[in-house]
Amino acid sequence: MDAKSDRADRLRGEAGNPALHPVMTDTAPPTAAEADDGGTEQNASGTPDDEDDVLIDTTVSTGGDGGSTVRSDTVIESRNLEVHYGDEQALKPTTMEIPERRVTAIIGPSGCGKSTFLRCINRMNDLIDGCTVDGELRFRGKNVYDEDVDPVALRRTIGMVFQKPNPFPKSIKDNVAYGLEVQDMDVDVDAAVEKALKRAALWDEVKDQLDSSGLDLSGGQQQRLCIARAIAPDPEVILMDEPASALDPVATSKVEDLIEELSEDYTVVVVTHNMQQAARISDKTAVFLTGGELVEFDDTQTIFENPNDDRVEDYITGKFG
Ligand SMILES: Nc1ncnc2c1ncn2[C@@H]1O[C@H](COP(=O)(O)OP(=O)(O)OP(=O)(O)O)[C@@H](O)[C@H]1O
Ligand SMILES: [Mg+2]
Repeated sequence: MDAKSDRADRLRGEAGNPALHPVMTDTAPPTAAEADDGGTEQNASGTPDDEDDVLIDTTVSTGGDGGSTVRSDTVIESRNLEVHYGDEQALKPTTMEIPERRVTAIIGPSGCGKSTFLRCINRMNDLIDGCTVDGELRFRGKNVYDEDVDPVALRRTIGMVFQKPNPFPKSIKDNVAYGLEVQDMDVDVDAAVEKALKRAALWDEVKDQLDSSGLDLSGGQQQRLCIARAIAPDPEVILMDEPASALDPVATSKVEDLIEELSEDYTVVVVTHNMQQAARISDKTAVFLTGGELVEFDDTQTIFENPNDDRVEDYITGKFG
């Protein structure tokens, strides 16, 4: 509880500081623009230009709003959320509730809007020219598309990890510390780096080489480094877009274990093409199908063992997609 209020206070204190913009716990480094989606030029826009911008109103969840018992477990909620790129609809009206401190998987064939939906959650789509978002995406009850929400602060609270590991060309320590330092957080950097690396299950492998370049690590280690960088500023939600698809089976297994562990402390939303992976690591699964339609969202076990929709069954059993 206290930690949450502290975090809210800290975030409020940082509101509207344009210098913070390039950081974003989304870990979006220069190379993130190369991520498969293209066009996500992390530093291109989103700088808060209004000093009065407020952050996500965490009081919605911490202020004892007694009426929200039904949704107390829900941290992210989309309501008729729609996305267009120019005239093309990429996401049909989507309504879904994502539970807190669980792993929610998003699966579906290529081009069905998985990344598009994920990027709505921390407003990364703002950075794509021609992208329009309609409907609502609520984080702790507050529509993140409201004018008074600072997208930069939002992205610190809702961090992101991409498909391709993208460490900065800096030391391991500096990669993890980057978010903390640029945010000017008043913390013991060494301790915070150690904590994040431990949480990312990388500490034992790198503790004696913290000054070596992050780029010298293996692909799997680099991805865990990126996860450490994302969690160092202590976000509440971690979005992952196919975080293991570029990794070998051993590294994949480590990342999968890590995702499950992280869900004890964070809400994790993970896009994956790997259905076995979704079945293994997630509590909830959303199935999108071609055309940007959310066809079914339910407990993972139900989706994989007894889906409602025939199209989901066909997709899961490999009949199409
Ligand atoms: N930056 C963009 N500009 C224009 N159209 C885009 C952009 N990004 C995605 N789209 C289109 O939106 C639709 C959904 O794309 P999205 O990347 O969300 O799919 P996806 O499910 O993540 O696919 P994949 O599994 O291949 O990553 C596709 O038709 C895609 O061509
Ligand atoms: Mg994608």
